[in-house]
Amino acid sequence: DAVERGEYRHYMLKEIHEQPQAIADTLEGRLSGGHILTEIFGVGARELLTRTRAVQIVACGSSYHAALIARYWIEAFAGLPCIVEIASEYRYRQSVVMPDSLLVTVSQSGETADTLAALKLAKTRGYLSELAICNVPESSIVRESKLSLMTRAGPEIGVASTKAFTTQLVALALLALELGRHHGLDNARYEALVKQLETLPGALRGVLTLDGAIKQMAQHFVSKQHALFLGRGTQFPIAMEGALKLKEISYIHAEAYPAGELKHGPLALVDEDMPVIAVAPNDHLLEKLKSNIEEVRARGAELYVLADEDVAHGMTRDRDHLITVPRCGELIAPIVFTVPLQLLAYHVAVLRGTDVDQPRNLAKSVTVE
Ligand code: G6P
Repeated sequence: DAVERGEYRHYMLKEIHEQPQAIADTLEGRLSGGHILTEIFGVGARELLTRTRAVQIVACGSSYHAALIARYWIEAFAGLPCIVEIASEYRYRQSVVMPDSLLVTVSQSGETADTLAALKLAKTRGYLSELAICNVPESSIVRESKLSLMTRAGPEIGVASTKAFTTQLVALALLALELGRHHGLDNARYEALVKQLETLPGALRGVLTLDGAIKQMAQHFVSKQHALFLGRGTQFPIAMEGALKLKEISYIHAEAYPAGELKHGPLALVDEDMPVIAVAPNDHLLEKLKSNIEEVRARGAELYVLADEDVAHGMTRDRDHLITVPRCGELIAPIVFTVPLQLLAYHVAVLRGTDVDQPRNLAKSVTVE
């Protein structure tokens, strides 16, 4: 193999551990004096990002989950409406293009058939411009796009995306903050958020030390058939990504729900056989999430809480399981909390004896429809 696994048993585990470096590489040369360099998005980016009045993102798989998080950021930091759609849906329906809309594609490979087709179609629909967030500079999607920002994850061999996903989030955070800067984001807040991004490689090194604890926790999932992931705000797409990882490589059926939606269906599924994984960062939704956790606890669910160390106290009771995540800021929290979910899926899959790097029926890059 051209890319070595080294000391790691699987590429996926190696790639999980490469994330601090991949993120440092993705930030390298993109910031100067506490600011994002506008030219990193390509020629003419300053003018285009200033003129942008709406954002449409299309993507598939994990890249779609990264885009869903970017929507929270773009609307919060730049005050611009942002629509996110799965590429295979976008390309086959009549959608409304808002004036001065920027079309953004997110793709690790830059070759996903639906995302590429969606981009080609979008170019005929009157967008202001198109920007690709991609891991392969010479790929079709990058070549078709006027603007681009490369993630620098390096080659990702494991079919289940890990470092490609977290570096996409970094690139999308750069885009959201840059749009913010051109659309009224308070300067002090902007600078504080950029600083937070710079702490990410260290924060990820910290969260990777949870590996042993997560491996222990994984044993409880080996014989399960279902799992429910809960999150709110930017952690809802992270819960979706956690559920996707688990189903892709361990073949356990997993679903994610925004915790506030429990009463509208999933509570009916909750009993002693349903492990529930709740993602609990220290954010403005914490109290809401706590009461959602109480709702599932009251139904006898086996509860696994990933909580920021500052709020972990009192988060769990009796037979609940707690994983304490090192404290981190609200912008980077979704990226930090992704890592324990990747490790959970990984260890469950290893214990179940599946082919972790090559899950059945799946391909790394889906280049046919
Ligand atoms: C496949 C891969 C996923 C990936 C998705 C989109 O399903 O297994 O890991 O997220 O394709 O691929 P892209 O290269 O466009 O990000």
